[in-house]
Amino acid sequence: MSKILVTSALPYINGVPHLGHMVGCLLPSDTYARFMRMMGNEVLYICGTDEHGTTSEVGALKAGMDVQAYCDMNHARHAKTYKDFNLSFDFFGRTSTEQNKEMTYHIFEQLDKNGFIEEKIIKQVYSIDDKMFLADRYITGTCPYCGYEKARGDQCENCTKVLEPTELLDARSSISGSKNLEVRETKHLFLNLPKIEGELAAWLKTKEPFWPDIAYTIAQKWLKEGLKERCITRDLKWGFPVNKPGYEDKVFYVWFDAPIGYIGITKQWADENPAGRSWKDWWQNPQEVRHVEFMGKDNVPYHSITFPATLLGTRENWTQVDFLKGMSYLTYEGGKFSKSENRGIFAEDAVKEFPADYWRYWLMANAPEGSDSSFSWELFAGAVNKDLNGVLGNFVSRVLKMTSSKLGDKVPEGGTYGPEEEELASVLQKRVNDYIGYMEAMEFRKALAELRAIWVEGNNYISTTEPWTIIKTDAERAGVVLRACINLIRIFAILAAPIMPTIAQSMLDRLGMPLAGLKDFDVKKEMNVLKGGEKFEVGEVLFERITPEKTAELKQKYGSAN
Ligand code: MF3
Ligand code: ZN
Repeated sequence: MSKILVTSALPYINGVPHLGHMVGCLLPSDTYARFMRMMGNEVLYICGTDEHGTTSEVGALKAGMDVQAYCDMNHARHAKTYKDFNLSFDFFGRTSTEQNKEMTYHIFEQLDKNGFIEEKIIKQVYSIDDKMFLADRYITGTCPYCGYEKARGDQCENCTKVLEPTELLDARSSISGSKNLEVRETKHLFLNLPKIEGELAAWLKTKEPFWPDIAYTIAQKWLKEGLKERCITRDLKWGFPVNKPGYEDKVFYVWFDAPIGYIGITKQWADENPAGRSWKDWWQNPQEVRHVEFMGKDNVPYHSITFPATLLGTRENWTQVDFLKGMSYLTYEGGKFSKSENRGIFAEDAVKEFPADYWRYWLMANAPEGSDSSFSWELFAGAVNKDLNGVLGNFVSRVLKMTSSKLGDKVPEGGTYGPEEEELASVLQKRVNDYIGYMEAMEFRKALAELRAIWVEGNNYISTTEPWTIIKTDAERAGVVLRACINLIRIFAILAAPIMPTIAQSMLDRLGMPLAGLKDFDVKKEMNVLKGGEKFEVGEVLFERITPEKTAELKQKYGSAN
């Protein structure tokens, strides 16, 4: 049993999560955490809201609320959405807590003591009309590197290049749109990344064989361009006040305390669960802990460069990221999700339309792993109707209904498996091994294709053995086939559980069986778990079909591209 620490990028408190966010880090991390638990590992799965920064101040201002109250309200909203999506966090915390403040102060003090913090006078953009210094992301302009016209002052979304706001061409305030901006001088603290660059490059090198292309390439690109000193303080009120004399009026930059939030959140979890493990068992234990992070590709630089460098600079023994799964973007009908333009389906509405498992299945089967992928209502309806309803749902109801009507509501007894079942078990074993291998490697599209192929094997088996025909001449043999099929229902449920936990549970409930593990999964053995005589229930249909009319209605309701 290993200790696996699973983290997902901490969502911004004021954002409303859409399907792209769900598949960009939250669902893959949940699927992986569930899978790793089922493989018999000790897993700690941590997430929380990323609460500091100007976005929260601006959001609160617009809502006419105090920032703390605004964050409390939005935190609850995020927590509810993730609960509705069945995310199995061990703890869903927040970055604005005392625990995170303590952790941030500690890490900052170590960096300062070790000579990685520099003081510099910088020029900062002040918006005369907004009467405030503008946070980097609140300045919009044209990217000097790729010409993208809506680049933000902190990063160009288009080419992923990290920017200084003063580099933007044709800069304007994103709050008011005002171009009445002025550059003023102010004193700030910087993390000296160039000083730790060599060490960081050596650390990254050790990860090369393990990290998927997308993350490793982005990190390498950054290193090649050479690291710059990174400002870690801001002129804001909402945030952790900087614990250094002369900086009382400033707070730490949200990107400084946000990743530290993983640790702060773990500390909060440990404080609230004093009987369990200490946060140090997870975060100061690199020898025993494997840390796997999930995030969209825009987050990769912070987690492959800035945050690891921050931890290295403390000269303490932190658990660093061992594997970083970076994801590309999901588009909506080929365009961008946009709340303001009412285009795209957002997570809290998605679960009102269909059960979470439909979404979990579709999103993971179409995860934007190598490149971007696009959501469309036709594709979604197609997968629900064909894969879920047509292949899995149909198998379950066909088998249980047929058994119930011909042989009664008990798993058929008598007879033994023959060559067909031997063959089925060996075909399935190979596929199951592949499925488990892909899940371990976090190659989710391939894993889900394999899962679907496993369901198809079940359908093939029942079509070739034709229990509905042989029952007329050989009831015992028909019973053997149906017993094999009922065992398959249990096997399919266990395999699907990391992806569709509720459906899996419903399948197991019909058989009165508990969820079981996936470690050393032996299909032949599993096909003999239900030996005959166990009571079962046929139950309701597992999946609802989505009609073309419904699809058209949803398209209308949630908008189509552009
Ligand atoms: N809030 C950021 C985003 O949604 C992610 C922060 S991840 C963290 O893009 F680890 F730094 F918190
Ligand atoms: Zn650019």
